Amino acid sequence: MTELEQFSAPGAEWWRTAVIYQIYPRSFADANGDGIGDLPGITSRLDALSELGVDAMWLSPFMPSPQKDAGYDVSDYRGVDPLFGTLDDFDAMLAAAHERGIRVIVDLVPNHSSDQHPWFQEALKAAPGSRERARYIFRDGKGVDGELPPNNWESVFGGGMWTRVTEADGTPGQWYLHIFDSSQPDFDWTNQEVLEEFRGVLRFWLDRGVDGFRVDVAHGLIKKAGLPDYTPSEGADSMGGDQEDVPYWGQPGVHEIYRDWHAVLAEYDGDRALCAEAWLPTLDKIALWVRPGEMDQAFNFNYLMTPWNAGELRDVIRDSLDAFGAVGAPSTWVLSNHDVVRHASRLALTWDNPQGDGIGPRDEPKPDRAVGLSRARAATTVMLSLPGSAYLYQGEELGLPEAMEIPDEFRQDPSWFRTNGERYGRDGCRVPLPWTATAPAYGFNGTGASWLPQPAEWAEYARDAEEASDTSTLALYKTLLRLRAERGLGSGSIVWEDLGDDAVAFRRGDLHVAANLGEAPLELPAGASVVVRSEPFSGTALPPDSAAWYTLA
Ligand code: NOJ
Ligand code: CA
Repeated sequence: MTELEQFSAPGAEWWRTAVIYQIYPRSFADANGDGIGDLPGITSRLDALSELGVDAMWLSPFMPSPQKDAGYDVSDYRGVDPLFGTLDDFDAMLAAAHERGIRVIVDLVPNHSSDQHPWFQEALKAAPGSRERARYIFRDGKGVDGELPPNNWESVFGGGMWTRVTEADGTPGQWYLHIFDSSQPDFDWTNQEVLEEFRGVLRFWLDRGVDGFRVDVAHGLIKKAGLPDYTPSEGADSMGGDQEDVPYWGQPGVHEIYRDWHAVLAEYDGDRALCAEAWLPTLDKIALWVRPGEMDQAFNFNYLMTPWNAGELRDVIRDSLDAFGAVGAPSTWVLSNHDVVRHASRLALTWDNPQGDGIGPRDEPKPDRAVGLSRARAATTVMLSLPGSAYLYQGEELGLPEAMEIPDEFRQDPSWFRTNGERYGRDGCRVPLPWTATAPAYGFNGTGASWLPQPAEWAEYARDAEEASDTSTLALYKTLLRLRAERGLGSGSIVWEDLGDDAVAFRRGDLHVAANLGEAPLELPAGASVVVRSEPFSGTALPPDSAAWYTLA
């Protein structure tokens, strides 16, 4: 039995407790020096992940794509974009990860394809009502000549959700639906041909040996019948996280699809996992995605979105354990990813910043860097003590802040263009990683090229600089991950403790966890012996914006 097969017992599957590291391939490591990260770059840096102590990694999309949405616009679901390498490079990376005991999850983008996907190109050439058009959501427009879109839905990236095509004879024609950019047409998931195609895509990657899939926009595949008009409330989260009953989010029909996929994964040996990216308004709704026979994990975005407030943090932890526990699933904790402001900046924000808006040069006041970093370290110290799985986003182990000064001419996020610069978008959390303080592009490659500019102050966050310090954020993450594994913190339950209104405090067996979200020092109980602390301090008074794990004599 190999190391990766040993946790296959029902109820003890690896994904229940795993710490999973998200790689954003274009910004992780660049082997050929063109300024864009690639698969050989990832392979060359896997030792850093072993040393960190993660169980698995998830790769954002690397499939062939015109890169209109950084690869979330796939034109071939069974390949590797030359930008990132070849299928052989993928196989080599997978083998090298498995040799190190690191599992590999790939990103599957089933809600929409690229407009360059052969199916969409065929649909454009085919007639209204054809089999080719039925794979996507084409409709006649409203108005006298069909010149108005079929309904009033607004794209997540800004602008309308419909684009009109020109028919083969040159006349203005039907409209197609795209929840995101016009280069990302939505599939019609009520069409059996689409279902069958994606079964094949799942099998293609499972046959290569992947350990699972992160499923993009897992709450969007089915649209309410009749496509009724819908107007979100002012300031609503465009991914659906804080809204009730949106006709394109969380429709009941999606669950049939995931039960089908569950059956496909079950044909394979080992524990292959499905993780949902589903922004839903309540934890009870998210838990529907991880009922037995459906998906295994669903990102806990309610946790991610919780502000730095002790009462709210206690509530979301309690409610998460209840909601996921009720369906026998682990909570999947997460604080950062490639779509949100990095938590080392987000947790110090003093103003409202809806998901996807980002932070840019004209935004003031900027979140305080020192406060943000302290809170981020404390938040991670709490997260990695909790039972369940946890996702880390590349660079958070270095304490990277959001890049907030990217000049306009470098911006790439489609939402920047579709809102005419009103929303900065997500580029600020996607800047290439610093590996070496004194090297060109901080060691991201050997040439100094970088698809987004790296901030000047990032030398101090470079991995080699942090490796040389035992008080760095990297050192903290390594200690937390080692202790989490040694003490089996990924499974089991928590017992709440009361250290006052400004504290989040609980016990995991004989290990106590406390975070101070208040403004005054928090005295730990008499006899406390600190095992790990998010900030340097001596004695037993936890400074504001810090957390510790401790035992009691
Ligand atoms: C969610 C992905 O995480 C995001 O980056 C992407 O833009 C949208 N889905 C569309 O695929
Ligand atoms: Ca490259």
